[in-house]
Amino acid sequence: MSILVTGGAGYIGSHTCVEMLNAGYEIVIVDNFYNSCPESLNRIKELTGKDFKFYECDIRDREGLDKIFAENNIEAVIHFAGLKAVGESCAKPLEYYENNVGGTITLCEAMRDAGCKKIVFSSSATVYGENNVSPLKETMQIGGTTNPYGTTKYMIELILRDLWASDNEWSIALLRYFNPIGAHKSGRIGENPNGIPNNLMPYITQVAVGKLACLSVFGDDYDTPDGTGVRDYIHVVDLALGHVKAVEKVLADKGVDAYNLGTGIGYSVLDIVHAFEKACGKPLNYKIVDRRPGDLATCYSDPSKALEVLGWKAERGLDEMCEDSWRWQKNNPEGY
Ligand code: NAD
Ligand code: UFG
Repeated sequence: MSILVTGGAGYIGSHTCVEMLNAGYEIVIVDNFYNSCPESLNRIKELTGKDFKFYECDIRDREGLDKIFAENNIEAVIHFAGLKAVGESCAKPLEYYENNVGGTITLCEAMRDAGCKKIVFSSSATVYGENNVSPLKETMQIGGTTNPYGTTKYMIELILRDLWASDNEWSIALLRYFNPIGAHKSGRIGENPNGIPNNLMPYITQVAVGKLACLSVFGDDYDTPDGTGVRDYIHVVDLALGHVKAVEKVLADKGVDAYNLGTGIGYSVLDIVHAFEKACGKPLNYKIVDRRPGDLATCYSDPSKALEVLGWKAERGLDEMCEDSWRWQKNNPEGY
């Protein structure tokens, strides 16, 4: 029996594959390397001393998926594969709906026809939209997303709930990630963005390593303690361990449920900058600029449901997140 991991060569996927292998699961990875590269797979093997099957395949390729299900005894799927850049999704909405929503539908059709009805899905805190007040709870109404990327996550959650309503044999975990940062302790796997990073931590690490000149802090006039945006940063290894718990849950129980994966603590942009300066031992060049359109002032989770139902809690603090992000960047200045 194996767990199929779509998008397993990517940032969160590679860390999750390491923790799944360490927990004793057999895995099969499928990825089209749109936003990742084969070297991450070598490093998963290096870190775990374990082997796994890999298929270079697009999840929109139904025949390719059917072959994977025919050749392996897949018990459940962890579904990371998707496009994730908020700004790009505004410029290319059709590509985002086609890849994220279309890809998930094709994957679920292949699963259904293969008799595999257990899935852990990468959703996002973005599904809470603009109108809920932090701490965000799973009982709050979702929707009101502000960009096509976020809307794909919202739509997929609705589709998966409809799928369960039509057939109660399905087990579905919707994992709403807050802001993953950090890297594996070894410094061998980490986030490897193409081009200039959109997200805060990879931008900071590239300034620290000298690839970028200066961090722009997007606004210091928000209604937050220091005026900069507040987010719930979570160590990617904690997030990966949350997937191991979610897999246990979908293997054990039928149903559909959403879980926040966050720490419950909000840090500002300047908190992150100063924690990172401590981790790398030097000052970081930054300047305050205008707000970035579409950003919220504050977004953090109430993570208590994941503790109660999955028995999962984030354990790693901000200093460790910054130290691990820095080790990965310093050891791999050009990425993989
Ligand atoms: P990533 O880009 O590093 O990983 C995604 C992987 O999926 C990549 O390896 C990519 O090549 C692959 N992929 C994309 N489309 C594919 C397709 N059609 N067929 C096969 N493979 C495909 O991103 P990540 O940060 O690891 O995110 C993983 C998932 O988590 C995504 O669904 C993302 O939307 C979601 N998520 C990420 C964040 C974040 O801040 N990183 C936050 C919330 C949710
Ligand atoms: N920020 C800067 N400068 C930068 C980049 C970011 O000041 O160069 C600030 C942002 O304004 C925000 C904070 O740092 O206050 C975090 O920004 P990120 O871009 O790292 O993350 P977001 O919270 O904007 O977005 C993340 C994911 C999205 C997801 C969203 C909501 O990247 O995929 O959380 O869950 F949709």
